[in-house]
Amino acid sequence: MKALHRILINKETSFNPIWIMRQAGRYLPEFRKIRRENPNFINLCLNKELSSEITLQPLRRFDLDAAIIFSDILMLPYGLGQKVELIKNFGPKLGELNLNDINKIDEIDFVQKIDPVYKAIKKVSSDPILKNKNTIGFVGAPWTLLVYMINKHSPKKELKTDFFKDELHIKRTLLIIEKFLKVHIKNQIDSGANVIQIFDSWAGLLEERHLPKYIYTPTVNLVNYVKSLKTPVICFPREIKNYKEFCEIIKPDAISIDYNIDPKEIVKTIKIPVQGGLDPKILLTDKDTLKKEASKYLNIFKDHPYIFNLGHGVLPETDPNMFEYLVKTVKDY
Ligand code: CP3
Repeated sequence: MKALHRILINKETSFNPIWIMRQAGRYLPEFRKIRRENPNFINLCLNKELSSEITLQPLRRFDLDAAIIFSDILMLPYGLGQKVELIKNFGPKLGELNLNDINKIDEIDFVQKIDPVYKAIKKVSSDPILKNKNTIGFVGAPWTLLVYMINKHSPKKELKTDFFKDELHIKRTLLIIEKFLKVHIKNQIDSGANVIQIFDSWAGLLEERHLPKYIYTPTVNLVNYVKSLKTPVICFPREIKNYKEFCEIIKPDAISIDYNIDPKEIVKTIKIPVQGGLDPKILLTDKDTLKKEASKYLNIFKDHPYIFNLGHGVLPETDPNMFEYLVKTVKDY
């Protein structure tokens, strides 16, 4: 059985697999080299040879238990015809959102536009390096994609006051997002992804009264859809205030936690498998601190099904030697 499935399906507690969010990325010199030669980020995601090579780069170096496909949550708006660019020192920048144009797009157009992502998943998942290891497919949660598609760039700490102004437009956009997220998930699974992670990076921006409409209802639909395809699903509702309520309503196969939540509170209140938590900044300290902090999570979750990961993506300034030491610490535990 593949490493993550032992936790997600079998609920084993005597084994802690490890993978790291953004493990394929800028802290690796071999990634930065490819990136320098490919200044257009979206085109790089659409290059099946390079994106599968980037996906495997961290697995060639470290004993990780899963590959996460090198792509982006913003391939969804891209596939729908919204312009998406990644600007250095600024982040994503999206173009006009025109629902009349988007409504003309059908599933076939969408899949054709981002087809290299699926080809890359196929290539990666059949690589012998992944024997007993998982291939993780992923999507942005409906709420987080709505934020990018309407706001057109990262919202920093809060939403503009007029974000919810045009309720009908928001409702229509959410329905389109949900429909194509299902298409995107299905195609990733058909291509070889055997775990799906749903990234809700902006879950923490919402007031409690908005959670049912923008997070709970659309996410539960998506989670049930992934389950219907017999594939385990991990949710990462970053900085949500009430993880317990989220888990009870959504019922994912595992919950990925951020670094602001106390893991002792989580292990007491949450019954399903847990993933992640360690602050990525700990990798910028020293080996003793790293070992101490990683062991803290491993100790707290020693009788709980637990996948080791960070509380958000690995930082670009991380030393690959510290990354290696973290993997070794988890494997030796
Ligand atoms: O290794 C992996 O985890 C797989 C690849 C992956 C990327 N993005 C590649 C990427 C994954 C899973 C994502 C998810 C993603 N993308 C999220 C959810 C997770 C999170 O970080 O909260 C979000 C919000 C995005 C949107 C996005 N893409 C942002 C905000 C940025 C710029 C910020 C940044 O970290 O630079 C990106 C660009 C991006 N996506 C990079 C990578 C490796 C950096 C590309 C570069 O500058 O070279």
